[in-house]
Amino acid sequence: EKAGYDHFMLKEIHEQPKAYRDTMLGRISEDGRSVELPELKMTAEQLKGINRVHIVACGTALHAGLVGKNVIESLVRIPVETDVASEYRYRSPIITPDTLVIVVSQSGETADTLAALREAQRCGARVLAITNVVGSSVAREADDVIITLAGPEIAVASTKAYSSQLIAFFLLGLYWAQTVGRKDEAEVANVLAAMQALPEQVEKILAQSEVIKQVAESISHHSSLFFIGRGVDYAVAMEGSLKLKEISYIHSEAYAAGELKHGTLALIEEGTPVIALLTQEDLYEKMLSNIKETKARGADVLGIVNEGREEEVAKSVDRQFAIPRTLPLLTPALSVIPLQLLSYYASLALGHDVDKPRNLAKSVTVE
Ligand code: M6R
Repeated sequence: EKAGYDHFMLKEIHEQPKAYRDTMLGRISEDGRSVELPELKMTAEQLKGINRVHIVACGTALHAGLVGKNVIESLVRIPVETDVASEYRYRSPIITPDTLVIVVSQSGETADTLAALREAQRCGARVLAITNVVGSSVAREADDVIITLAGPEIAVASTKAYSSQLIAFFLLGLYWAQTVGRKDEAEVANVLAAMQALPEQVEKILAQSEVIKQVAESISHHSSLFFIGRGVDYAVAMEGSLKLKEISYIHSEAYAAGELKHGTLALIEEGTPVIALLTQEDLYEKMLSNIKETKARGADVLGIVNEGREEEVAKSVDRQFAIPRTLPLLTPALSVIPLQLLSYYASLALGHDVDKPRNLAKSVTVE
């Protein structure tokens, strides 16, 4: 049932092109110029009445939510807060009648997320769920549901469910922007065309897994490392760091690159691996100066860069991995792939149980 792969995680990493296609299927109009979400019970009028969003989830699903915040804020221009489900529930969240609460959960059974959903509804919010499991508790109790079509995810470390949640957020953001008239048809069509290119671009990244495998083997000897990025790259850095910790047990921290100099740089020593994401062109120069700060302390830097930047980045980093070009908004759907591979191969190099890491259940049903 692993279809020839050594582990479910590797199989699921490789299923991402299909998961992207399946999650988009039937949700993009035939002419490729608009998003259709017939599953939403919420009317266009109700959607127009939403002025604030809370995205609530746990772990990797929360990391998808951080990307979702960026997507909704940039496409729809309404304020979005994100919160850890186990915190949200107990902090008397400020929910107004025009707040939409979005919960994200692969399994749809995470106790903290379910409790947050119930609390939001109790406070009068409408709840939209993004989940991978039809008929799950979250899917049953939410007012609206967008199902990700990643297919069953067996490995404890979430990969294709996370990236399909990103696709769901792209679709929701575009649908919302077109409904409220924030984006015209040409703009929506442009993003949709870029989205439809993602599956093939993921294939291209997967074909270069060997490069990442070598980096993973070298970092597996270290006891601590850093993931850095700015903007949406920071959100992806957090996911890369969690994935690595989860299955390789190597300590790592994700940092907003500009924040390093406010204390953390002291932890970077000769040889400390730093994974730097540089996919956001408008933040590129700033990232380079942050990388320089780490290099000055002896960091060994792997840059995740956009294709075409390799030559100029070469003088600033020790190693690099290029991802195909896409729109800045969509880069997480590509940049996360090398990070998933990195954690997979690091875990493998250390001889750990990749699919069933210690102290972790696939679905956490206790609060
Ligand atoms: O099923 P859920 O998406 O609600 O699960 C939430 C987290 O427990 C989950 O994402 C966890 O962080 C994963 N093991 C990450 O790989």
